[in-house]
Amino acid sequence: MPKTDQLDPDKIKANLNTKRIGTKILVYDTTSSTNDIAAEYAKDKENDGLAIFAEQQTAGRGRAGTKWLSAHADSILCSIVLTESKINAELLSLTCAVATAEAVAKNAKIKWPNDILLNAKKVAGILLESKTHNTRTTYILGIGINCHQKKTGFPEELQNTATSTDIETRSTTDRISLARRLLTSLDHWLQIAETNSEEVIEKWSSLSVQLHHRVTLIFNSRKFAGNCIGIDPEKGLIVQLDTGGTRFFDAAHTTIAK
Ligand code: BTN
Repeated sequence: MPKTDQLDPDKIKANLNTKRIGTKILVYDTTSSTNDIAAEYAKDKENDGLAIFAEQQTAGRGRAGTKWLSAHADSILCSIVLTESKINAELLSLTCAVATAEAVAKNAKIKWPNDILLNAKKVAGILLESKTHNTRTTYILGIGINCHQKKTGFPEELQNTATSTDIETRSTTDRISLARRLLTSLDHWLQIAETNSEEVIEKWSSLSVQLHHRVTLIFNSRKFAGNCIGIDPEKGLIVQLDTGGTRFFDAAHTTIAK
């Protein structure tokens, strides 16, 4: 079926009512990784809020050195440049997860640190990267949302755990509307995060599939298991360990084992 939702900067921007995110938008047909392009633009402070989209990536990256694969025009592949973040990486990661979940669907959930789930399957992922230019730390929020993939379009090993918005909504996603919702939601939640991190934590907690459940984590190649009892906007996931005591796990150095 021909795709009618080709990403177009003017269509994404039309009446977009954001203060910071997406005030400048670039759309590439094919690029290596939108995060790499964003990192170049992040060298110029003026590019704060720039949103970069691509229809296809030849070297899309996921967390922990994985590849992020998507056929042409099947996904939202987006990177946001933040050259002047007032909030730290941990809170940024939580805020981006909340904003992405909200943009994807009412029933989307968050699997810390970076997975967005629909009906318990991964529909989107976030890759937060930072770079320091002179003394300035810039952040790149890389967001991939599966839209038009069919079950058989995913690699076999992912077919039971990955999904797309088309599959879960049993309809054809309009990627332009979704891109607009994503920018609007990011703009909204980033403003909130700057003044009221508690509100982000509250929303994250209501969307988390791990809060008050058992988690097994890998931190610095070591395995930890316990009950997730909360989230801290600076230190990350709070876990009551099976071995006793409470420990924080930050998003940058932790992966979920199951
Ligand atoms: C993950 O779940 O592992 C994170 C996936 C992040 C993928 C997005 S797609 C847009 C941006 N560019 C990349 O190369 N990666 C992110």
